[in-house]
Amino acid sequence: MAGKAPQKAGWTRRGFFNWVLNVVLGAIAILIAIPTVGTLIYPAFAKSPPTWVKLGPADDLQQLSLKAGNGSVGSVAKAPYTYLRVDHWAKQPDSDYAYLRYIGGSCLFFILSPICTHLGCHVNWVQSANQFHCPCHGSVYTIDGTNVSGPAPRPLGVFKWKMVGSDVYIAVESSTFTHAECRTSEADKEPCTRIS
Ligand code: FES
Repeated sequence: MAGKAPQKAGWTRRGFFNWVLNVVLGAIAILIAIPTVGTLIYPAFAKSPPTWVKLGPADDLQQLSLKAGNGSVGSVAKAPYTYLRVDHWAKQPDSDYAYLRYIGGSCLFFILSPICTHLGCHVNWVQSANQFHCPCHGSVYTIDGTNVSGPAPRPLGVFKWKMVGSDVYIAVESSTFTHAECRTSEADKEPCTRIS
């Protein structure tokens, strides 16, 4: 770092030039360090874009949900998927599942993250109660993912999804806690997150 400017009493031509040199070298070092440090720490804070992951053919997923329901109304079905988990600099293959429900209309599917918004355990779908129950600390969510009891502070995350040909793809967000869109408001109960 640049040293202190010499006191006036000890100010010599050599001392002055040394001081100027130190100041210039210090400034150059800072100018070099700023972009280097920025490049190194940026990935840790940058919000990575979602990864579009294939969940399966829409017809199969519809049948899966209808089979879980009464045959005409879809219920919650577990739909597994594999994806590349982005962990700062590293990408690793991983697998998880989404809770999918056929709701018909133009939106077709409502797709929830299984990750509890309290501390991240996977919730279980309990068909007899028509609810999701978290095995870790007892949070309970309704069929649309609204948190109704226990320590969970927010509804379950909801996946954005789109059709590619006849297949359903979901947007897996590695930058969010639930790997899906976070919902903060109970008012937004069953949003249609179908893209296009
Ligand atoms: S992690 Fe689900 S209630 Fe704590």
